[in-house]
Amino acid sequence: MLVDDDAGFRALLRTTFEAVDVEVDEAADAEAAERRIAAARPDAIVLDVSMPGLDGVSFCARLKSSRATRDIPVVLLTGSDRASEATAQEVGADALLLKPFSPLELLAVVERVAAGLHALPFRARGKEQPDAQLLLYARDLRHLLELERGQRRLLQNAYHETVTALAGALESKDHGTGQHSQRVHHYALELARGVAPQAAEDEGVAYGFVLHDVGKIGIPDRILQKPGPLTDPERRLMETHTVLGEQLLRGVSFLRGTGLEVVRSHHERWDGGGYPDGREGTDIPVAARVFAVADALDAMTSDRPYRRAMSWAAAGREVVKQSGKQFDPAVVDAFRSRERSLRRIRRDLATPTAYPVA
Ligand SMILES: [Fe+2]
Repeated sequence: MLVDDDAGFRALLRTTFEAVDVEVDEAADAEAAERRIAAARPDAIVLDVSMPGLDGVSFCARLKSSRATRDIPVVLLTGSDRASEATAQEVGADALLLKPFSPLELLAVVERVAAGLHALPFRARGKEQPDAQLLLYARDLRHLLELERGQRRLLQNAYHETVTALAGALESKDHGTGQHSQRVHHYALELARGVAPQAAEDEGVAYGFVLHDVGKIGIPDRILQKPGPLTDPERRLMETHTVLGEQLLRGVSFLRGTGLEVVRSHHERWDGGGYPDGREGTDIPVAARVFAVADALDAMTSDRPYRRAMSWAAAGREVVKQSGKQFDPAVVDAFRSRERSLRRIRRDLATPTAYPVA
């Protein structure tokens, strides 16, 4: 319970406590506080010393002398010298904080006294400035934001590691390298920077790049690992990995829809001859158009059970030849202008059993 006659200050304190999910009751003076305490006993009381009517020190003394309320921890807040440590202890306060105080410090003190631990923290008084309390709030807020950012980074790394491990596990079943999703992810990001910078910044898209083939989890091994061309029925079954992948990941919030588009549409063709929907041109989501080039590039420059890898130069010629047919011409242009960076990605992510790169 917050007891303070200054409504603005109460609002500031309420925000502080509610930020950490502490339920807050409040009163503007001792009389109102007494009524509320009788109605619902608080776990702790934060009490301002200077109030009109009964002041905080006298109110604290009254609370501590009553059998009904003496066990409720009281934290006294004071902006003046009227309540010294000795006075605070004399009237039975559990802690005393001098204004301006840091909100994190207040939370720590209230948490300690509410847990039955005694604390009487004192801070050296700095120069009195009218906005000092707000400055301390700003400082703590910045600190909390930094912490929050760090937590978010940790969470993102955890997502990324999980997703990469899943994609890698799947690939070891498919082409046995575990590197394909990493390479296509980086190729696609590089191409996207040239043709769709917004997609390159979209985390959902990046996850879609890594997880594009997750639907292959539902394709039988005899088809996935067949050392030769697929029959028509086998090919049709294989093609369902796009829709299957989208269904599997539909409930995953961090894909944000844009990632799902990559999973569903990465085998569409610019000329409308792709699958699963036969979409055409700019009707195909841009991240999927970008990804199609990255995926084909990596497929052509990697060994398959039934054929050897193509050289980088030959694969590049094929990409250019498919401009306006299989691929979006704008993405092919991005491929041309960024070929050097793409080759560098290939080199950096090459497995020890080197692929032909020249
Ligand atoms: Fe695929």
